[in-house]
Amino acid sequence: MTGVSAAMGSVRERAPAKLNLGLAVVGRRDDGFHELVTIFQTVDLWDDVTLTAAPEVRLAGDDPAGDGERNLALVAAERLRRIGGGEGGLLVELRKRIPVAAGLGGASSDAAAVLRGGRALLAPAVSDVALAALAVGIGSDVPFLLDGGAALATGRGERLRPLPGAAGEAFVVVSPRVTIARKTARLFGALTADDYGDGAMVIEQAARWGRGEPLAPELLENGFTRPLLALRPELAELGTLLRRLGAPVVAISGAGPSHYVPFAEPAAAARFAVAADARLGRGAEVFVVRGTGRLAGDGDGRG
Ligand code: C5P
Repeated sequence: MTGVSAAMGSVRERAPAKLNLGLAVVGRRDDGFHELVTIFQTVDLWDDVTLTAAPEVRLAGDDPAGDGERNLALVAAERLRRIGGGEGGLLVELRKRIPVAAGLGGASSDAAAVLRGGRALLAPAVSDVALAALAVGIGSDVPFLLDGGAALATGRGERLRPLPGAAGEAFVVVSPRVTIARKTARLFGALTADDYGDGAMVIEQAARWGRGEPLAPELLENGFTRPLLALRPELAELGTLLRRLGAPVVAISGAGPSHYVPFAEPAAAARFAVAADARLGRGAEVFVVRGTGRLAGDGDGRG
């Protein structure tokens, strides 16, 4: 996952998207965050992040941050620089493929890639534990995206138990071109007690994977479904359309608006994606993805 060119002083990282294969919001905590139970799975849709030692922290290439929002990759570089003693900076070049603010973790994964790859350049003495602490300070799903693979996540999403992963499955991801300003905070804020769940379906899914069983599509609950459809009623039509095209199950990733359809057979996923793309046209981006394993260490001092 990482290419280091010592002579150039630059590091290349691939930053994967994630899917939430089930997500229950258990309730609101005293610190304002919500207690979650979710399965994260990284998938093979990637942003490219190139890091080069530079006099200051600077961004080049694509900048996905919306109005008034900070680019999380830059936040990661600044915090890494500070924890490393403040010497030198980092040129962060982003090439985006993951749709922005879509429930696929793109911005968080870019930040995780900066932590993963930038450590050798800015803060080589920082331990894995300190890096994970830095990660959760940037965003609740950044700790998972440091290593990727599949994990059962609890707490804010930062308490992780590795899982074997959805190895055989393919997913058709449909990201509607719908923008929701301050989406994550807004959707968490729109949750009511009726949206809360105990996470039993997610935990059951994780237990099945532990026994080597395939993904159970009927367990792909998502606690954001009601508030998301209340905020953007047109998304109900997307679900209906995908079902009419033959999707047995339509699930939502994160706080949306990306939907996905799991397939046991990659060929069936490819056929479905062609049909969905033809029907949705410019209204959505359609991807066929597979789960990835954990991001390989690169021997640059991790551990
Ligand atoms: O952690 P992150 O920066 O991604 O969270 C963005 C916002 O989403 C938080 O400020 C909070 O309002 C909400 N959130 C939450 N519970 C979580 C994760 C996020 O309430 N577990």
